[in-house]
Amino acid sequence: MADPASFRKRMGRGSALGKVILLGEHAVVYGVPAIAAALSEGVSAWAMRGQRGRAHLSVPSWGLQATAGGERVGDRAFAALCGKLGLGDDGVEVVGEPQIPAGAGLGASAALAVAAARAIAELHGRKLTPAEASEAAFASEMVLHGNASGIDNALAAYGGVRVFRRGEGLSALRVGASLKFVIGHSGEDGSTLEMVEAVASLHRGRKADVEQRFADLAALVGAAQDAIMAGDRATLGECLIENHAILRWLGVSTFALDKMVDDALDAGALGAKLTGGGGGGSAIALVDGDDSAVLAAWRAAGHTCITTEVRGSPLPILAG
Ligand code: MEV
Repeated sequence: MADPASFRKRMGRGSALGKVILLGEHAVVYGVPAIAAALSEGVSAWAMRGQRGRAHLSVPSWGLQATAGGERVGDRAFAALCGKLGLGDDGVEVVGEPQIPAGAGLGASAALAVAAARAIAELHGRKLTPAEASEAAFASEMVLHGNASGIDNALAAYGGVRVFRRGEGLSALRVGASLKFVIGHSGEDGSTLEMVEAVASLHRGRKADVEQRFADLAALVGAAQDAIMAGDRATLGECLIENHAILRWLGVSTFALDKMVDDALDAGALGAKLTGGGGGGSAIALVDGDDSAVLAAWRAAGHTCITTEVRGSPLPILAG
């Protein structure tokens, strides 16, 4: 049997977290701040030495195979990640094991990229800082989203509850009182790439109208930030409802997501909206302590759900 020390040298491991965007998705691509919270689960990855010159990634549970140098979008994203890491031409074989679904608006692609970057670096005897892991994953996200803001890879690498602004990065957000969210999957996969392109096309065609919505969103994010710090759940709930209306106007919601929002509000949620890229994926509902009515309503309609709690505890200091 190989001794553990030599085994370790032949294997690198990394993990990273999924996220929910509480407010500001899509507008964040254009420089509007967004608020997001990391989930307690994400993606784990293992890296092993492979055939020289060949970098390959597989995620069996997603049916994903990507080879750097190939033509498919996943191939190009993985090549961008490996290129950013700049760890030479050694062969590498990466296997991902997600705890969150892909296409659900929960930042799974960014979590995979950060986890893979950490695993590959560890295989080469290096430990990435959160900033390095986030930057490597951003290269991959740019390929996958077309024009990524960087919020997903930043949350995946740093965790916590944060305000993100493109070009500035993350700042910590003090949470005045715990916030309980139900996250439900609409049952349809969303393509962030397609939704980001749809918003870009609307922005090209109706620039003034879209910019007005982005300005409204910036004000909403500011109000939500104050509400989160003050522990004012009722105001935060109203902000979520207004944010969903703007996302709907931008054309990234679906019939199923709109119905989930309506059902959650009918069940007593303080607020609800789609989260992430939209076009499918997930919705979130803010509840006042008791999540049972929203869970019952969404589960009765066939949606898989989890409940997550954003806690009013101090955030860890960011390590650069
Ligand atoms: C996707 O989780 C969030 C979007 O705003 C895209 C991005 O910011 O890269 C839709």
